[in-house]
Amino acid sequence: QIKTAGKILQSPCGPIIHGLEDVLIKSTSISDIDGEKGILWYRGYRIEDLARHSTYEEVAYLILYGKLPNKKELEDFTNRLKTYRDLNSATIEIIKNLSKAHPMFAIESAVAAEGAFDEDNLKLAEALKVGRYKAEEKELAYRVAEKLIAKMPTIVAYHYRFSRGLDIIRPRRDLSHAANFLYMMFGKDPDPLATKGIELYLILHADHEVPASTFTAHVVASTLSDMYSAVAAAVAALKGPLHGGANEMAVRGYLEIGDPSKAKEVVEAATKPGGPKLMGVGHRVYKAYDPRAKIFKEFSREYVTKFGDPKKIFAVASAIEQEILNHPYFQQRRLFPNVDFWSGIAFYYMGIPYEYFTPIFAVSRVVGWVAHILEYWENNRIFRPRACYVGPHDLQYIPIEQR
Ligand code: ACO
Repeated sequence: QIKTAGKILQSPCGPIIHGLEDVLIKSTSISDIDGEKGILWYRGYRIEDLARHSTYEEVAYLILYGKLPNKKELEDFTNRLKTYRDLNSATIEIIKNLSKAHPMFAIESAVAAEGAFDEDNLKLAEALKVGRYKAEEKELAYRVAEKLIAKMPTIVAYHYRFSRGLDIIRPRRDLSHAANFLYMMFGKDPDPLATKGIELYLILHADHEVPASTFTAHVVASTLSDMYSAVAAAVAALKGPLHGGANEMAVRGYLEIGDPSKAKEVVEAATKPGGPKLMGVGHRVYKAYDPRAKIFKEFSREYVTKFGDPKKIFAVASAIEQEILNHPYFQQRRLFPNVDFWSGIAFYYMGIPYEYFTPIFAVSRVVGWVAHILEYWENNRIFRPRACYVGPHDLQYIPIEQR
């Protein structure tokens, strides 16, 4: 008999680790989380330090290459990203055809399509197919990884433009990753505080060990499919409301709630059996306050202090947070706001529609996905777990006329 809840399920074949909680899938030197203390490191550096001192390009280099770049390395890397930003015209057409769909559908499709046009990706996939992954192929793999990082903001911004019936705006080479993204979305020189917010968000989401999307990327990459396909699959996993989709859902919730005075009632409802989960709350690994959430909360506060909180989103979120922190249900389960609780608020006031919040998560996390794929390919083995079959065997086949 399989139990239906809990971390370990008992089955006739032995224990099942439900949702792979705490199962180690590989060793990594990319990022580490102390879930008890609420600490996150990228390549050994605390995210608080990176958020304070770094740019997204520098953090992306760190995650990809394992060390902070010197000036020349950063300049070369940044310039390469700038040259890779454009998309194939056929990919642009696909994005246009999906302009009425949720952007995450378009991103999945556009990433997969772009991979079919990238000669480096195809050459690499051919080499992997015959088991060749030496210095030359690794160089190719890093180039493909850099292209994926560079193209993701373009895919998202182009979808936004098409969805609003606007012309696309080509990337500008004189702008940073974050500023160019806002420029491609809105077509004007971005406000410095908005650019800072996007930059901060991109830094804070760049990697997070092996959540569902990164694990998905590993599974696909482990079959020696191609890097774009692995990233397209990761985008698909990120889309779900239990993962990256939570930031969109959180802000939609704050808008619906509309007033801080309703926070108590909303939080209470989430504690009832079968009640709606609070989006942006809880985490598989953090049993303390998510360190990214702390940083982004402060940024959101800075943003609404400067530009106002007319829809009371920050006020509603703050009231909900207070209720959560004081409620025994959340205390006993050690559920705290996660990064998605705060991240959408500033975006909303920047004029970014909420369906683009999760896409911006993908713009950032793509670096983590590709870094993990590259790390795994150093010692690749296909992921192939088992399931415990509990159905019948050797049933007698009955022809359809007799059923
Ligand atoms: N609201 C209310 N109750 C919750 C919440 C929540 N947001 N999250 C967890 N719980 C409760 C569960 O109902 C469960 O209660 P029980 O012990 O009485 O059955 C207990 O806390 C443990 O929760 P699980 O669902 O078992 O935790 P799990 O590790 O499987 O899930 C997850 C983690 C998916 C993040 C969950 O907390 C959740 O659904 N949160 C809301 C969605 C969200 O914010 N996702 C973003 C995650 S972070 C990211 O991707 C950037």
